Amino acid sequence: MTVATYFDDMSYGPAPEADADARAWLARHAAGFGHFINGAFTPSSSAKSFDTFEPATGKVLAKLASGDKDDVDAAVASAGKAQVQWAKLPGHARARHLYALARMIQRHARLIAVVEAIDNGKPVRETRDIDVPLAARHFYHHAGWAQIQETEFADHAPVGVVGQIIPWNFPFLMLAWKVAPALALGNAVVLKPAEFTSLTALLFAELAAAAGLPPGVLNIVTGAGETGALLVDHPDVDKIAFTGSTEVGRIIRESTAGSGKSLTLELGGKSPFIVFDDADIDGAVEGVVDAIWFNQGQVCCAGSRLLVQEGIADLFYKRLTRRMESLRVGQPLDKCIDMGAIVAPVQLARIEALVKQGIAQGAVLHQAKIDMPKGGSFYPPTLLTGVQPTSTVATEEIFGPVAVSMTFRTPEEAIQLANHSRYGLAASVWSETIGLALNVAAKLSAGVVWVNATNLFDAAVGFGGKRESGFGREGGREGCYEYLKPKAWASRKARVMPAVPQIKTTVGDFATPVIDRTAKLFVGGKQARPDGNYSRVIASPKGQVLGEVGEGNRKDIRNAVAAAQAASGWSSATAHNRAQILYYIAENLSGRAAEFAGRIAAMTGASSANAMAEVDATISRLFTYGAWADKYEGVVHQPPLRGVALAMPEAIGVVGVICPPEAPLLGFISLVAPLMATGNRVVVVPSEAYPLAATDFYSILETSDLPAGVINIVTGAADELAKTLAAHNDVDAVWACGSSELSASIEKLSSGNLKRTFVDYGKGTDWMDRTAGEGALYLRRAVDVKNIWIPYGE
Ligand code: NAI
Repeated sequence: MTVATYFDDMSYGPAPEADADARAWLARHAAGFGHFINGAFTPSSSAKSFDTFEPATGKVLAKLASGDKDDVDAAVASAGKAQVQWAKLPGHARARHLYALARMIQRHARLIAVVEAIDNGKPVRETRDIDVPLAARHFYHHAGWAQIQETEFADHAPVGVVGQIIPWNFPFLMLAWKVAPALALGNAVVLKPAEFTSLTALLFAELAAAAGLPPGVLNIVTGAGETGALLVDHPDVDKIAFTGSTEVGRIIRESTAGSGKSLTLELGGKSPFIVFDDADIDGAVEGVVDAIWFNQGQVCCAGSRLLVQEGIADLFYKRLTRRMESLRVGQPLDKCIDMGAIVAPVQLARIEALVKQGIAQGAVLHQAKIDMPKGGSFYPPTLLTGVQPTSTVATEEIFGPVAVSMTFRTPEEAIQLANHSRYGLAASVWSETIGLALNVAAKLSAGVVWVNATNLFDAAVGFGGKRESGFGREGGREGCYEYLKPKAWASRKARVMPAVPQIKTTVGDFATPVIDRTAKLFVGGKQARPDGNYSRVIASPKGQVLGEVGEGNRKDIRNAVAAAQAASGWSSATAHNRAQILYYIAENLSGRAAEFAGRIAAMTGASSANAMAEVDATISRLFTYGAWADKYEGVVHQPPLRGVALAMPEAIGVVGVICPPEAPLLGFISLVAPLMATGNRVVVVPSEAYPLAATDFYSILETSDLPAGVINIVTGAADELAKTLAAHNDVDAVWACGSSELSASIEKLSSGNLKRTFVDYGKGTDWMDRTAGEGALYLRRAVDVKNIWIPYGE
């Protein structure tokens, strides 16, 4: 070839990255790696191993140990021992360690980037420019949190031993997202990398030990799903942080139910990429390249559902398909390629099968006619147009370089289509009209929204999903809380469940009977007769009849959930408005304080002074949440780009509340008020033994300007009603206090739509204690933080 012919043909030559150091490192471990336990590589106790392959060639890369029970036990024991010392270190000492890890990543950046590209198949250009620098940024950022932990998180302690299970799509970056906050805040880690891509985790462990990280603080056990399951089920693990498929996330939710393990799940997505007709079309086309062809589309938040406004659809597809022709698929170590290899043949087969299914269901296939490498697992950039919103490719995560596309006419239709998914991880909105873009961003069910951008990440900006994309956040202050536990709850003791008082039959006398006041249910702002037309008698501890309440059933719960769903206006009401109503409820309660105190004393046998103290504390608690309603606000992040990310706390939605059996009024308000203050609508099951404080509350709610459906109350058998709420797919979260069995069953049943749960594992809370019973501990669990990224500039 002469220079002149290059001018004619304008093709790129290969620009291979040297891999000698990476291959030499692999050669040093040719006999197999073993697990990394207590600061050193340790052979697997079973001596079982498996091979890991190079996706671009299909050749064997290394031999990995297959972790069995003894290995996981050893790693967890090592972490348990180290954690005690690690947590005792001053924050500054941990900050220095984290800082050393960040510097270590930078010093070995090229080696890590090359090993990652070889092992995963992704372009070295991406590992070099994105995965590795962002990983270093996570360690720097979290070194900072360690430094200020004692002042910023003074009321929290580390969780303990954390089991972390990560996927194969960003092996090194996901390690950083998980390990940096866990270690920074005083936890010790056992991490299981994905079986396809364990090498950079092992390299990191080796380098971390050399950088002086104390033994046992970070342990790596390799293996497949079974090894992960052993970690999940280990009794000495205090928390599981998982990133991966929704199926496995659901299994983990079920198997940890009732164990008291803290859990964060970052799962799949089918994120919408919405292009309005006033978008910068070329910018949006380039956005699609980054949204779905970055990392071969193997990205949980990939913009995989392209929604294009009808008027520009033809032009947009024309430009997009033209752009597809110039993408290059090639060897991961070639710095001139856009896309590398798919992680493994099994994933390639999954992509091929789904695309075939999409075509069979009517989609039109667009694939660029570009040179494809031979051998290895490669798949071309692909666009499917004319996709029906209900077809498999529009609803299932393909996890490959395949965008599916459909059109819309109005912004409302775009929002509807975008939210038509069981997932809710991320979204991109493209419009030059800021008002339109932000209006849509606010209405999307997603944990992250990028305005005129896509796939932006930063350690200071929380990342995580809604709905079946999982729960919990990684990054930022909210991510730190996932690795901490409140000190105020450390001394909680197992609750003694109050027995439901039974009536003692007495011989009637000639006293004038009280006028019968059977409380109904409270649904959609009205008192409603229970569906089954049964009621139950409520007795005092001495067995005297105090009244009757409706016996709610499954159908009543369904009606209450429907009413709560319909009250969605509450979530968009102004915080000022919500605050006013909370104060108004407090005012109306204070007018009837003596009556409520009398009721509490009669139901529970408490002294009048204690009963009055409970009413006073309830009024104060309502004031607390009235106060917070317009003060529990988000923050403006300034990530390293020209722009901002708005971290906005958003109501979770419809929340089922099982009130504590004790403290019939204060317990009820302690859970309901923070949820209300933050814009949630609730379906509440009051204390089964003492429900009359809640039913007396109907008339207070009716006179406090509360919109219908914001609070719905269903009395009856708490544990049974709780199960219906936990299994209901239109309920977004359940908060429950009660027995440890109740907590376990709620967590298990919540796995259907992966609702958020907040349970007490049968531990009683002293509701009179403000540090344990009110404030940010509750508000934080009442919201999901949505991060809206808004880059500046032309
Ligand atoms: P996966 O969810 O099975 O694997 C993720 C991690 O979980 C791996 O480390 C795996 O060994 C571990 N694991 C598997 N079963 C486990 C269990 N029962 N208990 C504990 N740990 C377990 O994902 P997989 O099979 O690799 O990919 C399948 C599909 O999942 C992909 O096609 C994609 O749609 C989705 N996926 C989504 C990811 C995301 O980031 N949202 C990441 C990886 C896969």
